[in-house]
Amino acid sequence: MGASEAALPISSGAFAPQFRTNLRSKFSSICCVKSSNDRQYGCMQQNGVRILKSYFRNRVIRNVDGLFEEEKQRTRSESLRCKCSQAENIRGAFLEDGSRRLVNGLANDPNLQRQHLKYEKGNLLSDDGLTAATSNVFGANSIEDEAWSLLRASMVYYCGNPVGTIAANDPSDSNTLNYDQVFIRDFIPSGIAFLLKGDYEIVRNFILHTLQLQSWEKTMDCHSPGQGLMPASFKVRTVPLDGDEDATEEVLDPDFGEAAIGRVAPVDSGLWWIILLRAYGKSSGDTSVQERIDVQTGIKMILKLCLADGFDMFPTLLVTDGSCMIDRRMGIHGHPLEIQALFYSALLCAREMLAPEEASADLIRALNNRLVAMSFHIREYYWIDMKKLNEIYRYKTEEYSFDAVNKFNIYPDQIPPWLVKWMPNRGGYLIGNLQPAHMDFRFFSLGNLWAVISSLATTDQSHAILDFIEAKWSDLVAGMPLKICYPALEGEEWRIITGSDPKNTPWSYHNGGSWPTLLWQLTVASIKMKRPDIAENAIKVAERRIATDKWPEYYDTKGARFIGKQARLFQTWSIAGYLVAKLLIANPNAANILVNVEDAELVNAFSFALTANPRRKRMRKGPKQTFII
Ligand code: GLC
Repeated sequence: MGASEAALPISSGAFAPQFRTNLRSKFSSICCVKSSNDRQYGCMQQNGVRILKSYFRNRVIRNVDGLFEEEKQRTRSESLRCKCSQAENIRGAFLEDGSRRLVNGLANDPNLQRQHLKYEKGNLLSDDGLTAATSNVFGANSIEDEAWSLLRASMVYYCGNPVGTIAANDPSDSNTLNYDQVFIRDFIPSGIAFLLKGDYEIVRNFILHTLQLQSWEKTMDCHSPGQGLMPASFKVRTVPLDGDEDATEEVLDPDFGEAAIGRVAPVDSGLWWIILLRAYGKSSGDTSVQERIDVQTGIKMILKLCLADGFDMFPTLLVTDGSCMIDRRMGIHGHPLEIQALFYSALLCAREMLAPEEASADLIRALNNRLVAMSFHIREYYWIDMKKLNEIYRYKTEEYSFDAVNKFNIYPDQIPPWLVKWMPNRGGYLIGNLQPAHMDFRFFSLGNLWAVISSLATTDQSHAILDFIEAKWSDLVAGMPLKICYPALEGEEWRIITGSDPKNTPWSYHNGGSWPTLLWQLTVASIKMKRPDIAENAIKVAERRIATDKWPEYYDTKGARFIGKQARLFQTWSIAGYLVAKLLIANPNAANILVNVEDAELVNAFSFALTANPRRKRMRKGPKQTFII
């Protein structure tokens, strides 16, 4: 459909439901007009015409406050007009420094403005300069105060409204790459911190604006990303308005991986989006966002993309390398645990939020079947502890039968020597990946923690995972919580699996580096299992250095002794992760906005699946099992 064809129904307000869906998926870009003369955001009536003209020439938008409905359209212009006056207060916050990085969100804080001035004058502050600025300005009363000020300083505004936080605000780094963008996954701890503070607006805006970006028509070479895909990141750009020298417009420009290093697909973005949406509703009590027709459609589109049939034999989600937090080649293609845990959590969150309606019955059935199959698969086949390792050690191979014990034909020689030494007598964990004849025995923190949080792991397994983290404290927490994975790939393995990636050298970055942001996920998991002391101890470790080290993105070496070689400083999700951990320890009940409690129906279906466990007997004939919950 051409843009001009879309114009009519938008202004008439007469939309068949079918058309809404089509329009959502085809067009998604957002812009907001700003006049350079009066420096007003162009949200008023007369500019409105211009906005629409511009949209129809280039792109067609979805509306923030009520998609495609005349009634709501009016609400939108009203609310935009009122937002414009807010925009006046923070307009000064939009400034680009010498390296064209947006330095946002400073205008309301006079102290930060001072810091901002330094950016303007000297372009970039020295590291020491910023430390001095932050400690003088905030009195360095506490690490938390500093963290809040830095988090607020990382806020990104669109049309004068907060819509996210930039990935890093490192004044010492002239090569920003895409760290000046709002990453979906990086915003999650920021969003949770704001929710826990009762600051709901930025999260609501983030949810609705990223929804507008879903399924963008951009392509990589001649290929478009699947409908329902959420971008990895977006940037607010100020661009001249076509045909008007005096005006500029702000545009939200998403990246679905088509510009990202390695062109990696952000599979986790949509899953995080669903998880945040539920957290927003639970925290604010405002369920009107999740009930909106466009939001419901957004949830369904993500689910459809993830639940689509493929060639796979497993119920887990099949993805390419680098499709999540580890967003470069690290040998995690296939069925990485992180994606499975987030997928499982997102399915449970979506099930809670989807409006019960006839049209969604098939989707909900597919979702329920997948939940049962996934929990069975992960709990059975990803779990390792001393007992299971010993079983694998004695596996028979080449079993061609429906009753095979060693279903994936794992050769016992695959058990790596480091694991034989490393596995404690108490505790266990879910392995990183499972493929035919291949178990990736590495320990991945995010996947294991989120398996606890989402109840993908059983209660016993969840406790065992925490036991394991305690037993392996000096490896996993070491000098800075938490190691992204253990152990690092070294030597020939590093060369072959990472493609000799100089950023992922052993014990650095994604290859066994330590990431402070993971502290908040450790906190949620340990609170869920009523063992907050684990998180408290980890927070103490982080507090020894994190602020004096200037909130690095990651740490290097086996013991996390050095700030990462290429780590950004003032990395927002390191700051927000710390804040979430502190806020949750102070108010553990608030962790419920993130936790998925296993429901009884699922447990029943799971035990039914266990009794029909094909390891014991497999019904070769008869109808395919389905579990209706
Ligand atoms: C790195 C991380 C990725 C994060 C991005 C922005 O690429 O691997 O997970 O989203 O930086 O901070």
